[in-house]
Amino acid sequence: MEIRIEKAQNLKVKPDESALGFGRHFTDHMFLMDYDIDKGWYDPRIVPYGPIALDPSSTVFHYGAEIFEGMKAYRRADGQVQFFRPMDNFKRLQDSAERLCLPIVDPDFMLEAMKALVKVDEDWVPHKEGTSLYIRPFIFGADPFLGVHTVHHSLLVIILSPVGSYYKEGINPVRIMVEDEDVRAVRGGTGYAKCGGNYAASLRAGKKAEEKGYSQVLWLDGVERKYIEEVGAMNVMFKINGTVVTPALLGSVLPGITRRSCIQLLKDWGVPVEERQLSVDELKEAIANGTLEEAFGCGTAAVVSPIGELNIEGKPYEIAGNKIGPLTQKLYDTLTGIQWGKIADPYGWIVPLHD
Ligand code: PLP
Ligand code: COI
Repeated sequence: MEIRIEKAQNLKVKPDESALGFGRHFTDHMFLMDYDIDKGWYDPRIVPYGPIALDPSSTVFHYGAEIFEGMKAYRRADGQVQFFRPMDNFKRLQDSAERLCLPIVDPDFMLEAMKALVKVDEDWVPHKEGTSLYIRPFIFGADPFLGVHTVHHSLLVIILSPVGSYYKEGINPVRIMVEDEDVRAVRGGTGYAKCGGNYAASLRAGKKAEEKGYSQVLWLDGVERKYIEEVGAMNVMFKINGTVVTPALLGSVLPGITRRSCIQLLKDWGVPVEERQLSVDELKEAIANGTLEEAFGCGTAAVVSPIGELNIEGKPYEIAGNKIGPLTQKLYDTLTGIQWGKIADPYGWIVPLHD
């Protein structure tokens, strides 16, 4: 399919790279493509960034038929732009589409569409240390019909946002609150898919945590409220007595690409990694007996983020002296080193924008 390009007449003034924050600024263009159950995907196009007209009865507004991805383009010191494991994101987008009965897009075509859009807005990939261009592809149902049914009309959109740090803390430790009332997902539900509804369900707990001065919540399993799952926008890892323990992917946790990358790096460094169920009680015990050495979250937006304090059942526990631990720092340095092209990528994770 040929991608049509309509360039914007008036280009925006680019924001100050030292104060980007996360997800506040958008580039000059966006990618759009329509889907119809009889025609399949059609009319891929890059057009000026702006509002999309939708029928008020569209499925997405009523029944939450929406999935998305989050990935980044990084500018290397030599000015070249590169992506990190983009095909993993596009494969996960397929899995999310399958779960929500939204139309699947061929991952190779997604790569082509994303590259075409980033090439048009290449000047928007920021240069400053620690900044990147966040890429948000999303697919939603646009049937003008109020019946609850699988989608016949859809739209794929890709938007781009120059970003700095996700948390105001940057690489400094964040404070996280264990949530024991609301749950994010259960097995058999949509937890493993990246769908908007998962995040809608998380907002009340997130608000409560924020009001108490915490950055995000740590979710527990939806059945027993006993086992640790993940944080609002990242997977979690705990270094207990020399072993890194991270919740196993049993259907309710998002299979993070940063998580997968950290596991690979740790194993290659000879650090034992266990993907298994980890209970809050085990964590409390590790805190009490001093074997919880480090805790951190990992995700595209958050990168690798040390956890300096955990609030469990209303009680704050300091982790690793509220400082970034040596293994967390090494993971951060290696991952960001590969992403920004400062160190070699022995894994084939990097895909350059230009061949
Ligand atoms: N868990 C949740 C709920 C997320 O939103 C994210 C972010 O995408 C992650 C985990 C980390 O996933 P990834 O490393 O693929 O960005
Ligand atoms: C990401 O890390 O890409 C995410 O999707 C997190 C997000 C919900 C801001």
